Amino acid sequence: MNIIKVITVIVVLTMVTPLSAENTNTADSNSNSENTATPNADPSEATAAPAAPATAQEIASGVCAGCHNADGNSIIPANPILAGQHAEYLSKQLLDFKATENEPAKRNSPVMSAMVAALSQEDMKKLSEYYAKQKMVPSQVEADAKLLETGKILYHGGNIENGVPACASCHGPKGTGIPPRYPALAGQHAEYTHTQLSLFNTGDRANDGDVMQKVITRMSGSEKRAVSAYIASMRP
Ligand code: HEC
Ligand code: HEC
Repeated sequence: MNIIKVITVIVVLTMVTPLSAENTNTADSNSNSENTATPNADPSEATAAPAAPATAQEIASGVCAGCHNADGNSIIPANPILAGQHAEYLSKQLLDFKATENEPAKRNSPVMSAMVAALSQEDMKKLSEYYAKQKMVPSQVEADAKLLETGKILYHGGNIENGVPACASCHGPKGTGIPPRYPALAGQHAEYTHTQLSLFNTGDRANDGDVMQKVITRMSGSEKRAVSAYIASMRP
């Protein structure tokens, strides 16, 4: 079993690495052809990485960028924006994604478990500090005003009837979180947030010490959608 797991991880990793390498190549050749056409094009993206042991920035742009962008500002709504998130929270998540010989991963994500398999704790710490320092580019929202209003009421006041606590009490009135434990939410993609709320609800994400799971069981489907849309519209 373990050997199969290890092989799967290696296969996934080798599948993903050439993919991101390809992306970089395409970007480079694009900017190269742009360079010949327009002499003013900015060549900074083509700057070669220094030859040193893998820095956080090198891992981020070599391995993680395909899904989260090099600076952690994922533009794919299913993938979380990491830029500006608290380093302690990011570190905890990376550790939680990692399975050990004796224990399965605390946070279940086949994609991310494959990603962290080859990372040391030191790598995880460096990467988390790197993303925490990047400036967040918040999600661009086009939700209707009514949905946002419903979400806003829930976020700041909860739903007293059903015993849903205000998100603001743990994640802050501006959605900036309270380190080390409570993550920032403001500006996160609604699709990602909604997926997490559903995963907490079904128990497929259970690395929260039962805190979020308790909050979420009392929320309706439409409340989850509304609060996710509102969170995406918040600006840290
Ligand atoms: C193939 C796409 C892909 C790649 C490559 C990838 N990720 Fe992810 N990442 C995801 C997805 C999808 C999620 C959401 C997982 C879930 O909860 O189901 C995620 C979640 C995360 C989270 C949790 C964020 C939060 O707010 O809880 C962190 C941290 C993270 N990734 C860091 C990384 C790092 C560091 C790398 C590179 C070593 C990386 N990712 C590479 C797709 C990817
Ligand atoms: C009692 C405190 C508490 C309350 C109230 C609370 N949360 Fe959380 N929330 C947490 C904690 C703790 C975590 C981090 C869990 C972990 O370590 O993985 C979290 C994580 C999350 C995440 C995952 C973030 C990510 O990047 O993956 C989302 C989304 C979230 N909360 C949304 C909400 C919403 C929406 C509400 C209001 C309906 C809410 N929370 C209310 C404590 C709380």
